[in-house]
Amino acid sequence: MKMQQKEILVLAIESSCDETAAAVVRNGREILSNTIYSQIDLHTIYGGVVPEIASRKHIEKINQVLQTSLAEAGKELKQMDAIAVTYGPGLVGPLLVGVSAAKAISFATGIPLVGVHHIEGHISANFIENKELEPPFVCLVVSGGHSHLVVVKDYGVYEIIGQTRDDAAGEAFDKVARAIGLGYPGGPKIDKLSKEGNPDAIKFPRAKVAENEYDFSFSGLKSAVLNYLNSCEMKGIEINRADVAASFQKAVVDVLVEHSLMAVKQYGYDKFAIAGGVASNRSLCEAFERRCAKEQIQFYHPSPIFCTDNAAMIGVAGYYEYCKGVRSGLDLNAVPNLKLGER
Ligand code: KG4
Ligand code: ZN
Repeated sequence: MKMQQKEILVLAIESSCDETAAAVVRNGREILSNTIYSQIDLHTIYGGVVPEIASRKHIEKINQVLQTSLAEAGKELKQMDAIAVTYGPGLVGPLLVGVSAAKAISFATGIPLVGVHHIEGHISANFIENKELEPPFVCLVVSGGHSHLVVVKDYGVYEIIGQTRDDAAGEAFDKVARAIGLGYPGGPKIDKLSKEGNPDAIKFPRAKVAENEYDFSFSGLKSAVLNYLNSCEMKGIEINRADVAASFQKAVVDVLVEHSLMAVKQYGYDKFAIAGGVASNRSLCEAFERRCAKEQIQFYHPSPIFCTDNAAMIGVAGYYEYCKGVRSGLDLNAVPNLKLGER
């Protein structure tokens, strides 16, 4: 008779920005619960995340979110094998709330604590719905704070081969959205409005970075959009916001697709994944689907709910770190500028 393997349960916490989130993950890839309290409505009136407001709301919500997550999973705290928590990068106040909660639980129960890198979480979101996906592969991580091209050599082993020199892709979406009066967060709003616009209406620049062909730069594109809007205003030309949104989005998508595909081919991989909030963009996904099919590259992407910030992805990354023997002490601190691959 085959021995029944013990299930490994990870309780995960994510609070690096404006989502207070907890999840229970079984054996690394099965999500028993994924509870997200989004603060977006609180920050929208300010046009972006206000760190102090975010920290206070995390404190108010964290226990409730944790209890809901355990209840939805049908599990008790004492059944958990590890507590995984995002400890960087992110906003220091919000991070501290999650880290403090995780340390308190670990201290009170003796359950091991595992600090997780937020970007490692985003990458690991791909393991949830793609059970067959195993490293090595190339992953493009595009969120509000990051644009990284990463070779995932093994679980928890990364090589960053390209990154943004200035704005992150999501940040560019948010800034352009604000300029055309769409409000925060800009990504989903540009995604929606661009469906009504012509992506070839305005020719915006596709920036190349001379020193590293895998690096990105989005600040020039953002300035080009602002200049376009200003010059239309000065000339009294009516602005078609849908055309601006669609043309801007196409410029971002083109650059992300070109750089990523070049990396996958030059590094000789046949698997490619995307992750982070911007990975929920429909046009981006479709462009990658088309190009990867043409180049016979297997393409993976998480469902939108696992692209934007959530704790399930932290639980997945935490599981693989836990299995490798990684344990964090009660001196674990929030590290706002934590680099991928550092501990
Ligand atoms: O991963 P995420 O939730 O938080 C960070 O770690 O930064 O990403 C949030 C970012 C925001 O900039 C948001 O505008 C962008 O992801 N985003 C999108 C879409 N949904 C969210 N960008 C483009 N298209 C979308 N559908
Ligand atoms: Zn994120």
